[in-house]
Amino acid sequence: MPIIKHNMSHLPLGDHKNAPWYGKDILSVGQFGREDLEYIFAVSHEMHDMVDHIGTFDLLKGKILANLFYEPSTRTSSSFTAAMERLGGSVIPINEVKYSSISKGESLADTVRTLECYADVIVLRHPEIGSAAIAAKAARKPVINAGDGIGEHPTQALLDLFTIVEELGYVDGLTVTMLGDLKYGRTVHSLARLLSLFDVRIRYVAPEILRMPPEIMAELEAKGLPQAEHVTLESILPETDVLYVTRVQKERFEDQAEYESVKGAYVITPEVMRAAKERMIVMHPLPRVGEISPEFDEDPRAAYFRQMEYGLYVRMALLAMVLGKS
Ligand code: NCD
Repeated sequence: MPIIKHNMSHLPLGDHKNAPWYGKDILSVGQFGREDLEYIFAVSHEMHDMVDHIGTFDLLKGKILANLFYEPSTRTSSSFTAAMERLGGSVIPINEVKYSSISKGESLADTVRTLECYADVIVLRHPEIGSAAIAAKAARKPVINAGDGIGEHPTQALLDLFTIVEELGYVDGLTVTMLGDLKYGRTVHSLARLLSLFDVRIRYVAPEILRMPPEIMAELEAKGLPQAEHVTLESILPETDVLYVTRVQKERFEDQAEYESVKGAYVITPEVMRAAKERMIVMHPLPRVGEISPEFDEDPRAAYFRQMEYGLYVRMALLAMVLGKS
């Protein structure tokens, strides 16, 4: 049996400066069309095979990633680190911003200009919407948005869509139900936008005060995406192919009493899931804080742990692409 699957055509060994994503920033899912997604997922798939068969591969040997996190993160930060290291590169981690010059009042633009002197690519998570675009403007090197406040989280949306493709095999024709905090959850903002490239139906289930922002719904409406809002999950669960559950974003609430009033609004349990199809998946960007009962974890439809792993392959692909190695 060959060690590497046939047709490894996406990973040239030399620098590939004419590659479509060489040197580009990744700021919003609006940058991607269906062909881009096919390309990213083909590379991600090869990365998966490569990790399964070899584990690491020196495609990005000598390249350095600056991982700049102004907000907490477990998965995004560590999967970018793992992605870089599995490809032979290395990482400057800045997640304790209180120990960096940021705590002395340095601007985001200056911090980014500093890091690009030492690194080849910058991954940024920041509490303010639009911060990734500001950083990208200041930097000559590629900036990857790892979440800008309640704005976007494009690499998460890519890994979410890759999960759907890998788990269900197709996207067109699916009913995707988004549940929970659709107002402050940046992952659903990005995923809904990305799904508008496909022939899908989106259903939103949220407490009144956490509904999908009307401007995002209007944007998707203009693209002809069928959307509908529901108050209860029961009415829509039986026809759902992808149930995308989110955490109520406690840190975004000004009024903590308001958070308390909605925090336990929906809980996925084995009992609730009895009404769902046998062939469907439950996703969650994680962390979860009570909205999916651990009792459901053993169900084959629980895709949220596999989803994290897919994230590694997608981030490996993205790093290889912007660094001219794919
Ligand atoms: C999400 C985020 O940071 O937006 N987490 C992640 O990146 N996997 C979701 C969340 O914090 O609820």
